[in-house]
Amino acid sequence: MRHFTSITQLGDIKQAVEKALYVKANPFADQELGRNRTLLMIFFNSSLRTRLSTQKAAMNLGMNVIVLDVNQGAWKLETERGVIMDGDKPEHLLEAIPVMGSYCDMIGVRSFARFENRNDDYTELILNQFIQYSGKPVFSMETATVHPLQTFADIITIEEFKKKERPKVVMTWAPHPKSLPQAVPNSFAEGINMTDYEFVITHPHGYELDPKFTGNATIEYDQDKAFEGADFIYAKNWSAYEAENYGKVLSMDRSWTVDARKMALTNNAYFMHCLPVRRNMIVTDDVIESPQSIVIQEAANRVVSAQTIIKEILLGL
Ligand code: CP
Repeated sequence: MRHFTSITQLGDIKQAVEKALYVKANPFADQELGRNRTLLMIFFNSSLRTRLSTQKAAMNLGMNVIVLDVNQGAWKLETERGVIMDGDKPEHLLEAIPVMGSYCDMIGVRSFARFENRNDDYTELILNQFIQYSGKPVFSMETATVHPLQTFADIITIEEFKKKERPKVVMTWAPHPKSLPQAVPNSFAEGINMTDYEFVITHPHGYELDPKFTGNATIEYDQDKAFEGADFIYAKNWSAYEAENYGKVLSMDRSWTVDARKMALTNNAYFMHCLPVRRNMIVTDDVIESPQSIVIQEAANRVVSAQTIIKEILLGL
């Protein structure tokens, strides 16, 4: 594997999970693989889990790690071609990228959707510039439309906790005061569609995701009905995808918040969320603090997913 930009690149998801569980059981088995190799992690947006888990994963593989927060201490970067650079951005991404590539062996990029132009976001303009101009393997640490390292951790977690071969997994929209990207739900839908789980997505009208990602998943607009018999509840907010409302918050309806009454409709489901989560908007305190909440185990598996992917990239160098 050279670049990792989509969960679909994992191919056989069962085999990928087996590889990940080997990495989890033997975290320091490949310390020599990354010796004298450098990972550069570039953040255009904030992070807690991705930053720490990916750094830990690379360190487990014996790598050196450099982290750059583009918006804190670096030159402000122009990203558009043809712009007369007489404003507050003294450096262009098209010089910055090859320079950054010259300092490392591999680059992780976090660059969220900017909601200025749906086409720019959905063609992954920034990520693809890194692939085109850095000369180095590049992986997504959540880019405009996808978060495959998160989804891989989610599927590893479901495989660890599932009590039946084919669990019912429900991804539910929940309210949030700000416009959030569709990256996590897009990748989650794409990843669950690679499994043989029963998969239901529930959201209010107007929050339909790009069908490229949701595929044949069942869409259920009645959240209570969707929750019936669920084995896993995966909560997430996302903003509107449809062209006329792209990136907008259409609803803050707290009747969609995941609470104990709704969890009681499920098959004693586990509660999942990628974090960070806004309590009592997305999920009530009692649900996230309940024994059925596996959000911490899910976040811990971010090290496992990142280490499995970075190992694959190192093997291809
Ligand atoms: N889930 C996730 O990617 O968390 P961070 O935004 O904190 O990295």
